[in-house]
This record gives sequence, structure tokens and C-alpha cells, in this order.
Amino acid sequence: MAESITITDNRTGESLEVPILNGGVAASEWSKLLPGVWFYDPGFMSTAVCESAITYLDGEAGVLRYRGYPIEQLAEHSTYLEVAYLLLNGELPDTAQFDDWRREVTMHTFIHENVRKRFLDGFHYDAHPMGMLVSAVAALSTFYLDAKDIFDPLSRAKQITRLIAKMPTLAAAAHRFSVGMPFVYPDNSLDFASNFLSMMWKVAEPRFEADPALARALDILFILHADHEQNCSTTAMRVVGSAHADPYSACAAACAALYGPRHGGANEAVIRMLTEIGNLDNVPAFVEGVKAGNGRLQGFGHRVYKSYDPRAKIIKRTADQVFAVTGKNPLLDIALKLEEIALSDDYFVSRKLYPNVDFYSGLIYQAMGFPLEMFPVLFAIPRTAGWLAHWQELLDQDSRIARPRQLYVGTDEREYVPVERR
Ligand code: ACO
Repeated sequence: MAESITITDNRTGESLEVPILNGGVAASEWSKLLPGVWFYDPGFMSTAVCESAITYLDGEAGVLRYRGYPIEQLAEHSTYLEVAYLLLNGELPDTAQFDDWRREVTMHTFIHENVRKRFLDGFHYDAHPMGMLVSAVAALSTFYLDAKDIFDPLSRAKQITRLIAKMPTLAAAAHRFSVGMPFVYPDNSLDFASNFLSMMWKVAEPRFEADPALARALDILFILHADHEQNCSTTAMRVVGSAHADPYSACAAACAALYGPRHGGANEAVIRMLTEIGNLDNVPAFVEGVKAGNGRLQGFGHRVYKSYDPRAKIIKRTADQVFAVTGKNPLLDIALKLEEIALSDDYFVSRKLYPNVDFYSGLIYQAMGFPLEMFPVLFAIPRTAGWLAHWQELLDQDSRIARPRQLYVGTDEREYVPVERR
């Protein structure tokens, strides 16, 4: 007999046995016994919204796998473009498949001149690059009218390639605009990460040569951020996608979710916190302040991970490789001390608060020269692969439109009162 639970409606005495499948019980079964009684689950704390074969996450054990491959192996041996292919197609590409994929992505890195000249150049001079990215991604849907054909396999593949390819171009363009520098066209002789660094930093040199260690470090960060199952922005992508919006509009919604400081902004909060702490001597007092309820230790704790975030371990190693080129970020010592104290303090240990992916990623980005405003943008570039993989999976599952219920707690029916009598 498969595992199951039995629900009893104490109002009627009726019972129903519900099987536990893949770690869940189907709400449709529950509704058979209790129509009109809804699960109350704000923040989806206990709700699985879909079946997915993309990413496996065990927060207790600190395990993260894309399509079955451990994140540690992908970070060590793979590239972001290969990982994007894996997420989207379910399998690692062979040599010919990868060459085709890389060529396709490389051919689509340019953006329509009007996107830049008419659209991006129209922003206010101090526009936030993430706000520009959200809008620019949405605007792409008006340039590719075939994007609406979401059930045409050729159109779908083309929009996916375009989005993966154009995100770095849009991201770098948003940065260049925000600092008053001219736009840099993609250099299609460069790999994905090096091309992005060229579009970010090129000044007057004929060809921008990124330091290979920095390009590799960025590529590793892209791999680590490529997917994280049903996080807030992926859920936004799935909800909008379930209405059969085109992928650019759905992706813009996902970007907008990532713009929120609770999601894409935590590494920026880490840098601000470390800067505020200022020096090593202030660390113990800061930790005591957190324990007393004065704010949180940014970059610590996670809704799902209740052990060391496996991505944080990889990032910590990557940081050393970056600092060997850029020089050590002066905030690193404060971060290490903070981690050391927190990991031996019962307050953090008993609550299972460990460093998450954001604890060290901001230090790397800052050492590489990225301004704080670019941190969520750097997250959005690789997460696009995950968003699109989930969007595709959702469409292939012929899923229904996302439409949760609510528990109404407002006033009962009442008569309209004309304004002069209120
Ligand atoms: N510092 C100090 N205490 C903390 C922290 C922290 N960073 N995180 C959680 N706690 C404490 C809470 O005060 C609470 O204590 P209590 O039981 O005594 O009341 C307990 O740990 C549980 O915390 P919750 O807020 O219930 O945990 P939740 O799962 O809702 O929050 C979150 C997870 C938002 C990530 C939280 O740990 C946090 O705010 N961390 C700091 C911000 C951060 O690093 N965010 C990045 C997340 S990763 C990402 O989005 C890519």
C-alpha cells in the first residue's frame, strides 16, 4: 500500500484517504471531501504549485542539482551557456549541439537600434539599471510580434535564444546609460561572460580583453544563479506565463520580482551592512545587536536552506580567485569574522542560520568594479535561463491559469450611501 493520509470532516464524520505522491497530497482530492474549504497558505509556505523536473533542492542537506547534476560539478566543469542548454533541454549537449547553441546565442546578442536609441536613451539620467532592464525586456515583445505564437516550437525556440542572448546586452546598456558612457556593441568573437565584460567596461581600446580569471569567476556566478526552483521571480514567470502572455512580458514580470530587495537585493544589503560595521573590532557588538533584535545579519538564513547554502561554499572559493586578480576586497575580513562568530553562536546555530549565496557574491561583484545598483541586474542575466526553462515546462504541461483562492475577511453586504449622507 502506498503512503497516504486520511482526512475526516468532523462536521459530517465523512473520511477520505488521500495518497502521498512525490512528497505531496493533491489538493483536488481534498476538495472532493471539502469543497469550498481552502488551504490558508500565505507566502506558499506549504504549497507545491507544480511538478517540475528542472531543479532539485534539499534545504536540510544543502543539496542543489540542475537536471540531476550536482551544482558543485557544474560550477567546476561546465559553462553558463552549457548549463542554460541543460536547464532548457533536460540533457547536456553533445559537441555539435553545443556548437549550434553557442552560434545561435551569439547571432542574437545585438539589440534593435530602436531599443537603445529610442527606448533606453529616453530614460531619466539617473534611472536605476534594474528598472531600465525590467522595462526594456517588456519592450522587446513589441519588437518580436511572433513571440505571441507560444505553441509554435520554432517561434518559442527563437524567443528563448533571443532572451538568453540579449540580456547581457541590455544589462550592460543600462549600466552604460546610468554612468553616461556610450553603448558598446557586442563582440561576437568573445565568449558569453567576456562579451558581457567588454560591453560593461570597454572604453577606447579596439578590443576589450577581460582577465580570464574574472571572466571565469563571473561565468561560475552565472551558473550558480541560473535556477533555484520555485523562488519568487520564477513563480512570477509561471503565473504570468500561465495566462499565455508572450515570454518577454512574462520575463519582465520575473525581473520585476527580482528587483525587490527581499529577493535580488540581498547582496547589496550585505555590502551596506559590512560597510556600516566598518572594522573588525565592531563585529562582536554588531552580532550582539542582531541577537538583541536590531536588524538582521544580511546574507544569513534562507527560507529553504537550513544548512550551509552549497552555492555559498563555491562562491567563497571563487572569491579567492577573484581577489588574486583584483586585490582583496577590504570588507572580506569583516565578512569572514562575522561568519566565524555567527557559526559558533547558539543564536544562529539553533535557528539554522548559515551564509547564503548572497553573503559573498556582493564582495566579488564589488571587487570586479560593479556598482551596487548592478547587483540585481547581474542576477537577472543568468536567472533568465531558469525562468525560461520553467516557462517552457509550464506550457508543455498544459497547465491551467494560476488563480488562487482567498479567505474573505471584509465587511458583509451593505447599502450604498450617497456622499452627502456619509
Ligand atoms: N539574522 C538574524 N536572525 C535571523 C536571520 C538573520 N539573517 N534570518 C532569520 N533570523 C531569525 C528570525 O529572527 C527568527 O527568529 P525567532 O524564531 O527568534 O523569531 C528565525 O531566525 C526564523 O526567521 P524567519 O524570518 O521566520 O525565516 P524566513 O524563512 O521567513 O526568512 C530570510 C528567510 C528572509 C532569507 C531571512 O533569513 C532573512 O531575512 N535573511 C537576511 C536577508 C537575506 O540574506 N536574504 C537572501 C535570501 S537568499 C535569496 O533570495 C537569493
